[in-house]
Amino acid sequence: MRRSEINALLRDAWAFFDTYRFRLPEWAAWTPADWAAAGAAASEVVQHHLGWDITDFGSGDFLRIGLLLFTVRNGDLADPTCRKTYAEKVMIVREEQLTPLHFHHQKMEDIINRGGGDLVIELWNSTAGDGCADTPVRVSIDGVERTVEAGGRVELRPGQSITLPPRLYHAFWGAEGRGTVLVGEVSSVNDDATDNRFYEPVGRFPAIAEDEPPLHLLCTEYPALLPG
Ligand SMILES: [Fe+2]
Repeated sequence: MRRSEINALLRDAWAFFDTYRFRLPEWAAWTPADWAAAGAAASEVVQHHLGWDITDFGSGDFLRIGLLLFTVRNGDLADPTCRKTYAEKVMIVREEQLTPLHFHHQKMEDIINRGGGDLVIELWNSTAGDGCADTPVRVSIDGVERTVEAGGRVELRPGQSITLPPRLYHAFWGAEGRGTVLVGEVSSVNDDATDNRFYEPVGRFPAIAEDEPPLHLLCTEYPALLPG
């Protein structure tokens, strides 16, 4: 992705979050120079990969296949002394903008429609070989059980949420014609390096072509710009 595209998406995100009065931590607005000045004091943010996360999953077409996320809090599976066993994200999902089919080996997550349009989620049980099973899928929508056919879809209206246990394949997008969706995620610890299994291989973090200075660093970019 081009840096200018990422900067434009960041500006859009600020405006969208503001529409729903969703406020971000102070460091969401930091510039690369602010990060460098904060140094080791912000090490939890850096090590737990908090903050801005924009991906086109390697598609080259963010609006068709892509996702903007902001990780508000997270633990660290690699650190046995870390007592934070939970994570929270907020995401912006546009109409018909796909997050491809995937499951998490360990992470259990609630995906929440916080406002805006409707969120469509496609569901498949996984097989022992990480394929898609043809069995019905039992899920919990806000604590109420529902069963859908293999590959079936549920639509979450604002206020609704779904619980996704480990190894349950899910893909999601905003319903056509109903607007961009403000999506929340409350989960166990998130580790994008080891815990995601995409049904078809994708690029999780984009290579960035630098055509203008970064407005904010993405969560994968802190180490390169921080001292020791
Ligand atoms: Fe997921």
